[in-house]
Amino acid sequence: MMNLLVRLHAYCYIMQFLGLCFLIAFCVCTCEAQDRSLSDVITAFKQHQIPEHLNINFQPHVLLDVIFPQTNGTLIAFASGKQLERRETIMAPSYRIRGANRIGPFVIIAVDPDAPLPENRNISQIRHFMGSNYYKSLDLQDPNHLVNTTEAITYWRDPRPIRSSRPHRYIFLLYKQSREFRTQILVNPMSSLAYFNVSRFAAATRLGQPIGGTFMLVGPDETSPIKAYDPEKDGL
Ligand SMILES: *[C@@H]1O[C@H](CO)[C@@H](O)[C@H](O)[C@H]1NC(C)=O
Ligand SMILES: *[C@@H]1O[C@H](CO)[C@@H](O)[C@H](O)[C@H]1NC(C)=O
Ligand SMILES: *[C@@H]1O[C@H](CO)[C@@H](O)[C@H](O)[C@H]1NC(C)=O
Ligand SMILES: *[C@@H]1O[C@H](CO)[C@@H](O)[C@H](O)[C@H]1NC(C)=O
Repeated sequence: MMNLLVRLHAYCYIMQFLGLCFLIAFCVCTCEAQDRSLSDVITAFKQHQIPEHLNINFQPHVLLDVIFPQTNGTLIAFASGKQLERRETIMAPSYRIRGANRIGPFVIIAVDPDAPLPENRNISQIRHFMGSNYYKSLDLQDPNHLVNTTEAITYWRDPRPIRSSRPHRYIFLLYKQSREFRTQILVNPMSSLAYFNVSRFAAATRLGQPIGGTFMLVGPDETSPIKAYDPEKDGL
């Protein structure tokens, strides 16, 4: 019995130690890359003309972190306005929030307002992600982590600016989920990704204004398409 207790104790210590290591490792690779304050986020959004181009009144009160897993097991986070390599943004990101007093549910929507080109945004916005029923995690190790309890409505579509393009803005917005959202039929997994209008959608589903957001810039690389995505021919 004694023996078992001692072993159990040792086991607990090891698990706690691993948890701490995980937190430290997580912070080393992501903390310095994240938004530090709401005013930094607001400034970056203004500098990149996002509120006017998305028709949003952007007064966030939580910080949203978007974290991309990499094939080698590392994580990449970013502060608003940072440029990432296209290959770093291929896999669906996970999300964290800081400063929220509610646990959820939240809706997350990501859009590209610069398609096909920042100079000619005539097929914008492209909807790159729409997911709902996000809640703050019950995991004490990482309580700011958001966990979804239902499938995404639009799965993550990785950035694909054409080869001749300047970097596009990829904007992530966090909303308090409304009751009306649960029964919305405006967007489903088969809906076209192009010609989306996030402010019109948010008004129609009573999401209100975003309570958080962030954005990254992504330009083309050698694997990028030459020809622009054509919503009439290329399906979704
Ligand atoms: C993991 O991959 C990323 C790019 O996706 C790279 O920046 C980073 O240096 C790599 N890290 C290790 C430890 O290999
Ligand atoms: C968008 O602009 C491109 C390039 O100018 C043009 O080829 C295309 O027909 C336009 N598409 C629409 C839907 O207006
Ligand atoms: C949460 O969303 C991801 C995709 O964004 C999906 O793969 C996963 O199945 C979802 N989880 C649940 C419980 O539906
Ligand atoms: C999106 O919808 C809003 C509200 O209906 C409208 O004012 C705005 O012009 C639309 N934006 C685009 C790019 O069509």
